[in-house]
Amino acid sequence: MASIEGMTIPTPELLSTLDSVSPDDLVVIGLTKHADGAQIASTALPESVASALADTAVAVGAEGGTDATWRIPAPEGLSAKGVVLVGLGEGPSTPDILRAAAGFAAQSVKKPERLVFALADHTPADREAILEGAILGSYRTTKLTADQKDTTPRVALVGELDGDSVSRIVTTCEAVFTVRDLVTTPPNMLNPVSFVAEVDKLASSTTLTIEILDEKQLEEQGFGGITAVGKGSINPPRLMILRHQPAKPTRHVALVGKGITFDSGGLSLKPPTAMVGMKYDMTGAAVMAATTIAAAQLGSPAAITTYLCLAENMPSGTASRPNDVITIKGGKTVEILNTDAEGRLVMADGLQAASALNPDLIVDAATLTGAARIALGERYAGLMGSAEATALIQRAADEAGELVWPMPLPPELRTILNSDVADIANVKPGEVLGGMLSAGQFLKDFVGTNEQGEDIPWAHLDIAGPAANSSGPYGYTPKGPTGAITRTLISMLMSADGSGGGHSGE
Ligand code: BES
Ligand code: MN
Ligand code: ZN
Repeated sequence: MASIEGMTIPTPELLSTLDSVSPDDLVVIGLTKHADGAQIASTALPESVASALADTAVAVGAEGGTDATWRIPAPEGLSAKGVVLVGLGEGPSTPDILRAAAGFAAQSVKKPERLVFALADHTPADREAILEGAILGSYRTTKLTADQKDTTPRVALVGELDGDSVSRIVTTCEAVFTVRDLVTTPPNMLNPVSFVAEVDKLASSTTLTIEILDEKQLEEQGFGGITAVGKGSINPPRLMILRHQPAKPTRHVALVGKGITFDSGGLSLKPPTAMVGMKYDMTGAAVMAATTIAAAQLGSPAAITTYLCLAENMPSGTASRPNDVITIKGGKTVEILNTDAEGRLVMADGLQAASALNPDLIVDAATLTGAARIALGERYAGLMGSAEATALIQRAADEAGELVWPMPLPPELRTILNSDVADIANVKPGEVLGGMLSAGQFLKDFVGTNEQGEDIPWAHLDIAGPAANSSGPYGYTPKGPTGAITRTLISMLMSADGSGGGHSGE
């Protein structure tokens, strides 16, 4: 059967000046928006070239707003195939703006041409953002069509960047692509068993050590959540554990990802339209797998233990039922009142296993609730957990230019999960208020304490919104699976103290 192999990223080229542009290249130039008309952002261009471009911009009605490009012929004095003008908007051209603009320009290209980015006058931090955006935007979703057409552009940047920065950016973008590819893969081609095989293959060239628990071991070792969710499917569940162990780690971070390769809802079956798209319910596991692989490749100073909680949620004669009581790893019991609230069951096992290691920090990512999408839309991840841990994630997200938003964990939304027969119920049937927050409260019950009896610092990311983009392309984000939050977590893991700021270049 066909499968999604994904693309490898060719090493980006660095050109010292625009003089090395070839007649086959497309040159990408930034356009800022002003009340009295658009302006060419780069002052590095020869005066005559800049004024010819400005005239053409006016002629084609290019205003310089963001998420817009205008393809125009190369003016005299610039020996290129053409020019892509890309809007930088009205405000200052920050690294975030430049990353998005470079990405949108790369997404707009319909042929496998070489794009030479000369967006504006850049600092090193700007150039890193442009290169990252350009590569992210050069991603093309692998289609399972009979005929394959490659429209992937190659990326070149005018200006200097040190080799370490370039390889960090390429490795980071590769991780994002891995997430997008895994999430794109249809659920008849990706189940818990083949997910493990894919990640195993991706990790084979790294120093990561890998442990895989099959359905029998999961049951024997008390992983009642993953077992209960997986037992309705012919495709058995798995727990995959990845370990990165530096000689002298600065700290120990545990990552937990929700890996439901298809979420039908189980016996609490989803209606047909709600089920479409549920191949993406393994995004949290894909993000954590790709993040861990990148962190190992980049030599993260932190020790990392990653739990990928993999199951397919299906209805059948062997499936879990509403009213079943199950025992999570570590001994707490859960009354299942809705089999469609399955993510929290598999995550409970993962959080308990992670807590048993007494790490300095636990971070989890899950496409956990539709409520997160209702509350925050498709661009922000909901961020919950302890103050210390959420502050770390917030800083790393700011650093990476990704969007997270803090959310509370109100105690009264824990009380509604009290069960008559178990330690906790997985939902309160019929309750619709604060669904993202009560799911967070459920997870909190399974985060352990350290040797001093204090709660282990923990951050929960509900990525049900940003995991996929149902509208058109914007910035460096394609339609469909996005790989969002991967760069945030890599940034967090690459900083020595966990404060974010893994990037150099400032
Ligand atoms: N995977 C879904 C969350 C989801 C729903 C993501 C819709 C994107 C769009 C999760 O397993 C789920 O089904 N959650 C339920 C929880 C409910 C039963 C308490 C939901 O959000 O409807
Ligand atoms: Mn569900
Ligand atoms: Zn789900």
